[in-house]
Amino acid sequence: MCGIVGYVGGRQAYPILIKGLTRLEYRGYDSAGVALIGDSGKLVIYKTKGKVKDLEAVTADKDISGSIGIAHTRWATHGEPSDINSHPHYSENHNLALIHNGIIENYLSLKTELTRKGYHFQSQTDTEVVIQLIQYMMDSRSVSLEEAVPLALNLVVGAYALVIMDKDQPDKLIAARKGSPLIIGVGEDEYFVGSDASPIIEYTHKVVYLGEEQIAYIKRGEDLRITDLRNEEHTARISELEMSLSEIEKGGFPHFMLKEIFEQPRTLKASMQGRLHPELGEVKLSGVIDNRERLLGAKRIIICACGTSWHAGLIGKYMIEEFTRKPVEVEYASEFRYRRPVIFPTDVVIAISQSGETADTLAAVKLAREAGAFLFGICNVVGSSIARATDTGCYTHIGPEIGVASTKAFTAQVTTLFLLALSLAEQLGTVTDERRAQLVNELQRIPEKIEKILQHDGEIADIAKIFTYTRNFLYLGRGYNYPVALEGALKLKEISYIHAEGYPAAEMKHGPIALIDEEMPVVVIAPKRGNYEKILSNIQEVKARKGRIISVVTEGDTDVKALSDWSFEIPDSEECFEPILSIIPLQLLAYHIAIAKGRNVDQPRNLAKSVTVE
Ligand code: AGP
Ligand code: GLU
Repeated sequence: MCGIVGYVGGRQAYPILIKGLTRLEYRGYDSAGVALIGDSGKLVIYKTKGKVKDLEAVTADKDISGSIGIAHTRWATHGEPSDINSHPHYSENHNLALIHNGIIENYLSLKTELTRKGYHFQSQTDTEVVIQLIQYMMDSRSVSLEEAVPLALNLVVGAYALVIMDKDQPDKLIAARKGSPLIIGVGEDEYFVGSDASPIIEYTHKVVYLGEEQIAYIKRGEDLRITDLRNEEHTARISELEMSLSEIEKGGFPHFMLKEIFEQPRTLKASMQGRLHPELGEVKLSGVIDNRERLLGAKRIIICACGTSWHAGLIGKYMIEEFTRKPVEVEYASEFRYRRPVIFPTDVVIAISQSGETADTLAAVKLAREAGAFLFGICNVVGSSIARATDTGCYTHIGPEIGVASTKAFTAQVTTLFLLALSLAEQLGTVTDERRAQLVNELQRIPEKIEKILQHDGEIADIAKIFTYTRNFLYLGRGYNYPVALEGALKLKEISYIHAEGYPAAEMKHGPIALIDEEMPVVVIAPKRGNYEKILSNIQEVKARKGRIISVVTEGDTDVKALSDWSFEIPDSEECFEPILSIIPLQLLAYHIAIAKGRNVDQPRNLAKSVTVE
């Protein structure tokens, strides 16, 4: 959600900023803009509704000189996507420019007050209030920009990652964050700023993760200076980025989403690496070993997440309950944080988030912290806010996920939840050594089984074309495969914009069965383990109403196949691993239907990769 890029150094800023915005495009946005201090010394802003290439068209005949600049892709929250609402925004005297990610909750009262004092607003955004407030502080208190920034930010309620540029200081950027992420890249006599590492990685692996409520004074030729809202100084701690440039490029695939689907055999191995000891039938997670007592003593486990991560959480519940016999609740983070949930200090709260920046999940973590619960994070992005806000956790280690529709993160989250469940079970003695060894051995075979499913990509693409003009889909599954039905439906609606609903198969007769007719494809996840007989009856119910069946079946299946119009086979496996296999054909189905419809699969409309606002 929204992208921020900044540069100050010896090179021309504009190409670095544009490339950085392009690398952040996957996050989803509706407009783009850039501010530069050109060789003439003027602070110029170019911005437009639309994509980064539209911004490039706007700047085609403009002065794009200068070696300092800030750039932004906006995902509108306050005010429609328009040229004027795009960032950067000027201050009243046009000396300052600002880009912002997040929401200023008290913008209306601040705007009213500043308007009364004679400041003029150009846009409908909440953002513009911040830069006007900073100028107001400078004007009314005769302080420097450096002093005005914390003064202003102390009056602001809400979430922000922001970067400011000053016409009179053409070698300095000021960045600040609260709630939204911000990273500073440290090069040789140059600095980079990014909402994540992707615009920075090409130039330097040395980064500083700006902390909560911190302000960075980034001046070329000087060390980074970091303070906080109380003006206390902090040391700039430099971390080494682990990712490589190739990880954020498409590697020969037409879309990131397809590349990420095909990466799953490898990413799954990465999630398991160093954690499985098959010879002992053991799983070793340092987060569990180091916090043994707190985790094993949990009376209850609450999983909080959003979207796809929430679906993985549902599967996690089934696994943890099956293997540890501890009660698990799965909550939408957004509901949990606002409904005064009952949380005990003996609870363990697991937050699952690919990005580690989802605002609702982060807020749920903070709420659970206040109630004294122990916090376990399952994140992908190393050093992300949720990873840092939790007591311990386990990274999924699958590299950057760029496609907005989450694919490889889902299978990695399920795998990681299994590792967590099994390592808890091992400590609790709730699963026998023999059974653990069986499960660990089977998990190791999953990557090659995914490989096998991926070989059917061409067939799935052919079948997908049949549904180019279909308007509704129903997805059904039971037990471990019920969350897969939800996830399969989410994938389809996110990228094809076809309405799709996921349901527990047995619930169909309590309502959705009314929808079934010859127009309605029903995707049934029906591998042979679990409730096979029961789901067979559900399929009969659909057939009796002339519904069209697309099934996901175990290799060699004949019964479900005989009733289906189309079938995708998956290799046989343990029931708890079926979701990792059964989701693969559904990811491909959604992808190919979206392609057949000519959709932009990597950046579907209205969606953001990382939802850093409520
Ligand atoms: C998945 O395809 C989504 N685009 C979305 O539901 C996502 O899973 C959700 O926003 C949570 O993101 P997170 O895992 O980064 O917290
Ligand atoms: N709330 C701001 C706006 O609507 C920033 C949105 C964003 O994060 O892109 O302009």
